[in-house]
Amino acid sequence: MCGIVGAVAQRNVVPILLEGLQRLEYRGYDSAGLVVVRDGKLERVRSIGRVADLTEKCANTQGHIGIAHTRWATHGVPSERNAHPHISKNHIAVVHNGIIENYEALRTRLTAEGYEFTSDTDTEVIAHLIHSHYARGNSLLAATQASLAELVGAYAIGVIAADNPDQLICARRGSPLLLGVGIEEHFIASDVSALLPVTRKVVYLEEGDVVEVGRHSYQIFDATGKRVDRAVQISELSNESVQLGQYRHYMQKEIHEQPQALADTLESVCNSQSLVPGIFGAEAAATFADIDSILILACGTSYHAGLVARFWLEEIAGIPCNVEIASEYRYRTSVPNSKALVVVISQSGETADTLAALNHAKALGHSHTLAICNAPESALVRLCKLRMLTRAGPEIGVASTKAFTTQLAALFLLTLVFAKQRGRLTAQQEQHHLHELRHLPGAVQKVLELEPHIAKLAKQFAGKHHALFLGRGLHYPIALEGALKLKEISYIHAEAYPAGELKHGPLALVDKDMPVISVAPNDALLEKLKSNLQEVRARGGELYVFADANTHIRAADGIHIMQMPEHAGYLSPILHTIPLQLLAYYVALQKGTDVDKPRNLAKSVTVE
Ligand code: G6P
Repeated sequence: MCGIVGAVAQRNVVPILLEGLQRLEYRGYDSAGLVVVRDGKLERVRSIGRVADLTEKCANTQGHIGIAHTRWATHGVPSERNAHPHISKNHIAVVHNGIIENYEALRTRLTAEGYEFTSDTDTEVIAHLIHSHYARGNSLLAATQASLAELVGAYAIGVIAADNPDQLICARRGSPLLLGVGIEEHFIASDVSALLPVTRKVVYLEEGDVVEVGRHSYQIFDATGKRVDRAVQISELSNESVQLGQYRHYMQKEIHEQPQALADTLESVCNSQSLVPGIFGAEAAATFADIDSILILACGTSYHAGLVARFWLEEIAGIPCNVEIASEYRYRTSVPNSKALVVVISQSGETADTLAALNHAKALGHSHTLAICNAPESALVRLCKLRMLTRAGPEIGVASTKAFTTQLAALFLLTLVFAKQRGRLTAQQEQHHLHELRHLPGAVQKVLELEPHIAKLAKQFAGKHHALFLGRGLHYPIALEGALKLKEISYIHAEAYPAGELKHGPLALVDKDMPVISVAPNDALLEKLKSNLQEVRARGGELYVFADANTHIRAADGIHIMQMPEHAGYLSPILHTIPLQLLAYYVALQKGTDVDKPRNLAKSVTVE
């Protein structure tokens, strides 16, 4: 949603802050800003647009302490006056990620106390609140702690004061924040990738932590105000993993990283001879024995991964499975089942709706919870009893790609573990699936070789305004995901339907201007799908078919075939996703959109 960086050092911190912001830009990109202390005064620079615009404006800015922010608007339109940092009485500056729920009441009170508001944001109340406590003689730490006690909502904040050039205060509750430990310098950031040029030593802050950060030392206080020690960890993230390298966009890079991401996610399993529940956590064996159904909760692309998993879980493991959009589940009256395993899927582990849905499920009495997540230190992982980490590495492109396919791999493992536990997997079948999983990265690599053909095909989409995606069974969620990718980054209106539903409505839309993209795996539904495709062709619709090897769908006038190198059985959804990701990417290139940072979207949505 928003990205925070802060630093206190002997050197000028402005280049560190700007580099950090650049690396966090995927979290929000409608405006950016920073503030430093210079000669006893706060010097703030803000800019609407990208970090590059801010960098230009910072040519003459310098300081040894500063905080910076890149924003994705929630309260108040994207504008310079709403950009962070927010300042109270030229004295206290604050950057904030999250949402303050009681900001209206606080704003009314602070206005009555004489504070003047210059933005529409909820963040500005934090700056004034801290100022009001600081002005009463409290230290910056005490003033921040007292202010946090009055806030309702989620936050990660960084705070500095004009008359305190050696101290930065930061705190987190519900939004991510970590501390970077350098030599005679310290940093804060929303995500470790922002700090890699300056340090790998990080302290992941816990919920409710408040930290007094100085140049030589730092002190952490927990939610109760008690001084605590937290482990310093060495981040394994390599600097290269967050750099673009030979690629034009992060999305392209991340599409190409999928063989490695899958190999990493499956590493422990593929190196062993059999599947054990322990891959989901120490308590998994005992927990799974008590489970009679599965409830999957997620948003966006992660929800689509859940939809694929439902097919696997019911068909292979024979376990009933429901999949719900997290933002819907949290607000509807559902019937809890204490024997259900609640599986939350999330790339970031910080999506507000998914976190709230998990908490709602727990409040309803669900105690069996499993997180499938790409962010090991995230709130979602901490809140669940069980976990399986996807090892996709940092995903920077807003449109999710490698996180999705690694989620699918993790969910397939979950299916196999349940199938085995329920006596539905023979030793021979287990070996077969393990063999297929070992082959998966190589199979994905072969699909990536279709890239030049798809790039050519994409030219035919650039002038279109709408597109229809069709799939059946296990591949209907892949059609949904293909449509989502296309709309996210190329802004072409795209819808997905189970192919059998075509005749019940969407067929009315089909004409020569409506490209119809179909996922055609070589499975039991192929013959039915072929008839659905005829229905499209008969109405003059242009068909683009992503067909498995040996499907015998022939190219003809108005039927374009993209042949997949092989058929992957149950793992076919993973392979079929790849060309649809590439199609969206190359259509977006044709249209000249901002592929990695599509308009109006954000990578992780930490508000409702
Ligand atoms: C945002 C992103 C999507 C993502 C969704 C869920 O909308 O733009 O790409 O699928 O959030 O995110 P999560 O991190 O929970 O998987």
